Amino acid sequence: MTSPRPDVERRTAGPVDSFGRTIDYLRISVTDRCNLRCVYCMPLSAPDLAEHEGILTATEIESVVRSAVDVGFRKFRLTGGEPTVRRDIVDICQRISAISGVDDLAMTTNAVRMPELAQPLADAGLRRVNVHVDSLSALALPRIMRRGDLNRILAGIAACEAAGLTPIKLNVVVVKGMNDEEVADLAALTLERPWHVRFIELMPLGSSEEARISVVRYVSNVVTRERIEERLGALEPVATTNASDESQNLRVPGAPGVIGLISPVSRPYCGSCNRMRLTADGRFHLCLLRDDDLDVRAALRSEAPATERDQRVREILLRAVTGKPTGHRLEAGLHTRGRRMHQIGG
Ligand code: 5AD
Ligand code: SF4
Repeated sequence: MTSPRPDVERRTAGPVDSFGRTIDYLRISVTDRCNLRCVYCMPLSAPDLAEHEGILTATEIESVVRSAVDVGFRKFRLTGGEPTVRRDIVDICQRISAISGVDDLAMTTNAVRMPELAQPLADAGLRRVNVHVDSLSALALPRIMRRGDLNRILAGIAACEAAGLTPIKLNVVVVKGMNDEEVADLAALTLERPWHVRFIELMPLGSSEEARISVVRYVSNVVTRERIEERLGALEPVATTNASDESQNLRVPGAPGVIGLISPVSRPYCGSCNRMRLTADGRFHLCLLRDDDLDVRAALRSEAPATERDQRVREILLRAVTGKPTGHRLEAGLHTRGRRMHQIGG
């Protein structure tokens, strides 16, 4: 991030939604494409993908981030699909991190391309990564992360660590009959390394086979925690400084790493939600678990002069914040019918 400007003191606080939540974190899905196609996220064949021309350009993404900073957003994360399949991903990081007022820039990735990209991304201002890896077994992993290769992912994680994209956070989506017997092995990584290993409950999105799998293979984090404690002993809470951290953070006493439980279904965290999402095709998506969205692409592509265009983008973003809903009905089996996870970015 560039050094603070003298006007930093006058920085706008993040906008507050109609439930009193300050929304200052924007997750930017830069593509709906992915090189892995996990069973609960993306179909193996004929995925429903946006037209290339419909996807926001690096310049358009930069414009949205400027407008977001102007209205008080501070934290940004690049997601996908898989963000590193975009050829201009380093340029996108560079543009965002150069904007004064961007306090944090992170990425959620499957790390497959990180052996080549971790250092250039770090040089471009990326601060941290969350790496999605569902198994430590080279045989089991491709059953979930279909085109995944454990050794490549591990090499990617090592590259991220070497480039200083730390603390390394690993995201494990727990899938019944596929990796749920492995959770204690994954949690045991925290005994050796200062990593955060975070277990995520499956969320059904879309009206697809992926949503069905997410329902029938759901495992509650209550069970995951029991399985971990059976092997590693009682976990103790880790104090968090971030009130909007959706993860319940725990550790094995004395261990260098942290075990996180992200439990959208069994322990919803809607009350402390601070995020807005931008889809790759240029819509603000108001809540991960609902279909409401607002188009911003038309404003970005309008012929209006730049100042007028930016004003419209800010207005649309503020409308998205005001319209942000709270609460979901996952525990009652109700979920969205629109986008799949690879079209929103988690
Ligand atoms: N439920 C929960 N998490 C999911 N992810 C992808 N699909 C699902 C799902 N159905 C996670 C990935 C990635 C993040 C973007 O979302 O593991 O870490
Ligand atoms: Fe790709 Fe991540 Fe979806 Fe897996 S979960 S298909 S790695 S975007």
